[in-house]
Amino acid sequence: MGKFYVTTPIFYVNDKPHIGHAYTVVIADILARWHRLRGDDVFFLTGTDEHGEKIQKAAEARGVKPKQFVDEVVEKYKEAWKVLDISYNKFIRTTDKEHEEAVGKFIDRIYEKGDIYKGEYEGWYCVPDETFLTDSQLVDGKCPMCGREVKKVKEEAYFFKLSKYKDKILKFYKENPDFIIPNFRMSEMANRLEGEVKDLDITRKSVSWAIPFGPDKSHFVYVWVDALTNYISALGWPDGKNFKFFWPADVHVIGKEINWFHSVIWPALLMSAGLELPNRVMVHGWFTVDGKKMSKSLGNVVDPVEIAKKYSTDALRYFLIRSAKLGEDSDFSEKALISKINGELVSNIGNLISRTVSMCKKFYKEIDGELYKETGDELVKQIDIEKIETLMDNFMLYEALEELLKFVKSLNKYIADKEPWKLRGKQLGDTLYNLLEGIRVFSILIYPFMPSTSLEISKQIGVKLGSIEDLKFEKIVYKPKYGGHIFNHVK
Ligand code: MSP
Repeated sequence: MGKFYVTTPIFYVNDKPHIGHAYTVVIADILARWHRLRGDDVFFLTGTDEHGEKIQKAAEARGVKPKQFVDEVVEKYKEAWKVLDISYNKFIRTTDKEHEEAVGKFIDRIYEKGDIYKGEYEGWYCVPDETFLTDSQLVDGKCPMCGREVKKVKEEAYFFKLSKYKDKILKFYKENPDFIIPNFRMSEMANRLEGEVKDLDITRKSVSWAIPFGPDKSHFVYVWVDALTNYISALGWPDGKNFKFFWPADVHVIGKEINWFHSVIWPALLMSAGLELPNRVMVHGWFTVDGKKMSKSLGNVVDPVEIAKKYSTDALRYFLIRSAKLGEDSDFSEKALISKINGELVSNIGNLISRTVSMCKKFYKEIDGELYKETGDELVKQIDIEKIETLMDNFMLYEALEELLKFVKSLNKYIADKEPWKLRGKQLGDTLYNLLEGIRVFSILIYPFMPSTSLEISKQIGVKLGSIEDLKFEKIVYKPKYGGHIFNHVK
């Protein structure tokens, strides 16, 4: 038992969440639930990034004050997280008073350290990504990340001495080779750090929907410095009990386009403030939709709430993880989702449970008193629980799910081989017992991925959902009751 602090990036509230946002938060939720199962003290943080030019513009476009605008959009995030069964411990908003105060203190620390100086910024700015860009970073004159127009900015600004920390960060990478997962994302960062690293503009003069910059109130804090600080302000930094207990973060879950911010800028700011660095940064890939980048102009933005309501939350959660290994890009299409539902959830998992439970019901009289036998070795060998635990601990969610599916297939094969309906008495009782035992173990391991399905399975086989200690095959008295199909076939 230990502590586990997991975070999602905080989401821009210029619009309601889409399937890509759902992906980030579902990954973090699975990790949080896994560690709770393990018995760890978990703090799972998510929230919203509400300041900056992008939000200011979105509010203007709607003709409302920024605060009114963000208050409305934030509700959509909260509703979506509810539908997606996101078990966060705290939802932070960067407009929270405590957060704004913490940002002020964080800036003061870095300022006192002598890491901030006044200068002038002249270069490009991508508003949708809230990112400063140099000439050489542009691709065909556009933002290299989102491909959209950039604008020229020339203004007085305060800079953070990012270049001072370049060697320290490279050294940290060497000493912590698993800091960034997958590893190739670390090489990308290291290569960039080995080139020219410019100091970072950390204030905006022309953007007032932001936190005032303490040392010079005619400036406002750059939204990324404000945003990154959420990971400690949410814990009550500097004096909060939660900060003392949970920091450093065990893992920041992020998407690939914001790796530089999390694996270079954030560590540099933390080093400057004299704080410990997070243990890991888990960088996931991007979802396209029907093979195309999601965009409003293409009209292919997928609303995760609609999908969850149409097919079920757990089917969507399952699909998000099952479509690619973490770190790789993946594609969403309703066709692919339907095929996973029918091909894996209904015909493998659903079928196993409904067949087993209905056989138990049907043969209950026959096996009365005989159902509670010892588990056969055959099935125990079909699942490597330790391997799954290791995969989960190393964020290899796709691979863990694959192992679980293999186990379900072996349970289905066990039914086909044994043909329980031809058996009688003790043999029948033992066979059904083994199946139930396998399903019980499965119901625990599947919990982080599909929490309500896991609870439903436990209910149907008549046990209370177990914890990590129950992950062994042993004698348990079952009172199975048939409860209907867990997944329904989709046309
Ligand atoms: N506000 C910043 C993060 C600040 S964290 C201190 C931000 N917000 S975001 O709303 O644009 O993105 C939030 C998360 O959603 C990121 O992890 C991002 O990678 C993820 N995704 C956004 N679109 C995505 C896809 N199409 N596919 C997968 N994830 C993507 O960045």
